Amino acid sequence: MEKRDAIKRIAELRELIRENSRLYYVENAPVLSDYDFDQAMHELEALEREWPELLVADSPTQRVGSDLARGFVQAPHRYPMLSLGNTYSISEIEDFARRAASILETDFTYCCELKFDGTAICLHYRDGKLQQALTRGDGVVGDDVTANVLRIANIPHELSGSGYPADFEIRGEILMPYEAFDRLNLEREAAEEPPFANPRNAASGSLKLQNPDEVARRGLWCTLYHIPEGSADFGTQDEALRLAASWGLPVSDHRRICRSIEEIEDFIGYWDTARRELPYATDGIVIKVNETLYQRTLGMTAKSPRWAVAYKFKAEEAVTPVLSIDYQVGRTGAVTPVANLEPVFISGTRVRRATLNNASQMAQMDIRVGDWVHVEKGGEIIPKITAVELSKRPADAVPAQFPTVCPDCGAPLSREADGAVTYCPNSTGCPTQIKGRLIHFLGRKAMNILAGPATVEQLYQAGFVHTPADLYSLGKEQLLRLDGWKDRAAERFLESVAASRSVGFERVLFALGIRYVGETTARSLARHFGSVDALRDASLEDLLAVSDVGDIVAQSVYEYFRNENNLLEISRLKGCGLQFSLEREAAAVSDELAGKTIVISGNFSISREEMKALVERLGGRNSGSVSSKTSFLLAGTRPGPEKLRKCEELGIPVLSEAAFAALLPEGTLKPQAAAAEPTLFDEEP
Ligand code: IVH
Repeated sequence: MEKRDAIKRIAELRELIRENSRLYYVENAPVLSDYDFDQAMHELEALEREWPELLVADSPTQRVGSDLARGFVQAPHRYPMLSLGNTYSISEIEDFARRAASILETDFTYCCELKFDGTAICLHYRDGKLQQALTRGDGVVGDDVTANVLRIANIPHELSGSGYPADFEIRGEILMPYEAFDRLNLEREAAEEPPFANPRNAASGSLKLQNPDEVARRGLWCTLYHIPEGSADFGTQDEALRLAASWGLPVSDHRRICRSIEEIEDFIGYWDTARRELPYATDGIVIKVNETLYQRTLGMTAKSPRWAVAYKFKAEEAVTPVLSIDYQVGRTGAVTPVANLEPVFISGTRVRRATLNNASQMAQMDIRVGDWVHVEKGGEIIPKITAVELSKRPADAVPAQFPTVCPDCGAPLSREADGAVTYCPNSTGCPTQIKGRLIHFLGRKAMNILAGPATVEQLYQAGFVHTPADLYSLGKEQLLRLDGWKDRAAERFLESVAASRSVGFERVLFALGIRYVGETTARSLARHFGSVDALRDASLEDLLAVSDVGDIVAQSVYEYFRNENNLLEISRLKGCGLQFSLEREAAAVSDELAGKTIVISGNFSISREEMKALVERLGGRNSGSVSSKTSFLLAGTRPGPEKLRKCEELGIPVLSEAAFAALLPEGTLKPQAAAAEPTLFDEEP
């Protein structure tokens, strides 16, 4: 390769890796498979080795992917939180072992462990009490997720046993076991929220929620595997884990001390199959030099230790023929190609359908009906077609034609600017979309109106209902004209329609069915903006300031409110008496805090952003740092120690959430059970 080409390829790879890292660590929705991501990283590493003058300090090969998210306080790691070199090839594991042996020139052992597929966490215990929990972040600083971690059942708040260091850190992984993952996705599907692609995304998404009660409900689980050297005293990795277990910390027993590469390969071979029986996801094996002394000799690079390496399992796949391709229209109009396959078993489940994602991927693969395709089930719920097996292509295979018109209403399809989504633009005339929106609107977690898909079909066919607002002008006589409707059924239905007028704004917003706005996002948006008018007037930047809202969601909400039909529907629904603002807002606007400057620190029963918004609604001013002008510090769980110290120094009062709530008109702020987590300030100071 010429240098010119290397420069171009390096730039491409860095861009690809950075964008996918963001999708992986921040949005929890990567587009590349782990395998393709790792291959891109390895290609970049090889090019940078070949052209060392092109290596720069901020290349993704030199730093760990960042998971830092909005809405969390960041704190520095005491010891950098590194990542691991990884490979899919046994011969590279052999290279690793040979290199270690040639440097150490003595007998040593390996501690082989499972590579848990979740999201990394660093726990800090002081005097046996859990003090702080940080995500990996960018390796140097992490997000403080203590309030959430305190709600994970198998993480002890206090250590047991004896001999633990007075102050130490231990690291590991937060996982979502398959059972909890399946339950969560069933709930999300019922609520028509997008399901998580795999337990890893679900775990990291859950760990970054702004609602510790919801975190507790999600059934997360933790396993710990690393005590940074200097944090505690131990001679080997194995001993560190035994000690940790004796202090009541969750440590996996699935590890083995190996003395040779053959023993390592044995361990890998065993778990490559046995891992299918585990209740949580693993994606490989980690091989660590066991002796702390030798770890020190081997040292580390900027990004990963030289004394450990990860062997990653390839996702399981099968090869099977495509019988036909369906094009499914969703309630938001997106058209998704789905292949019907000759059924095949992959990781113990029968697979008969697989997504082809979108038109450009289909074209890229040149997939044809009759083709044999590689199907992968890498933890994702919907199996994916990764490649066409051209050597098996039958002569009569028919090239797939992505439809140019909607399979339901015949409207010409549109393609989004980035080419990823094809959609039916006929949102007001396409029956699938119209009925889909109505079904969503009526749902239990939305307006909770007593009607299912069959009733919607009937009301739609009769020409009674086209948009949600039409539901509110239905009369009993009209319903009784329909097949099978009796007095009582019509009354009950109309009662539930009437009752839906008092459903709160958060759920009304969810019921509107804005693309990518699930229950949780709707709640965050409602609480942040307080009313549909404020949400309508929000700029993209305003939207991005909301926790849990990324580019994709912000764009979707912004566009929703630029569509005349949507605005008209909202104004009709307002006319029907639905709730389009938070009651709390109306009740709370006052000047209780006029002239006060308040600094907020720590976690509360509502998000910090909501707390700041509340302060402003009450006439107060928010400030980021404590000074002599500060009226008081409002401290939630785990407030910043620097801020506390400054308050003490300047004699500025510190109020707990409960003390603050007591200052306000009754009912303005009701600290929930979540706020009863141990705080530094249980009583009013
Ligand atoms: S040790 C300094 N052990 O894999 C080395 N990591 O891709 C610290 N992981 O960042 C890591 N299982 O989040 C270690 N048994 C295990 C692991 C493990 C999973 C994760 C960890 C790490 C990532 C690297």
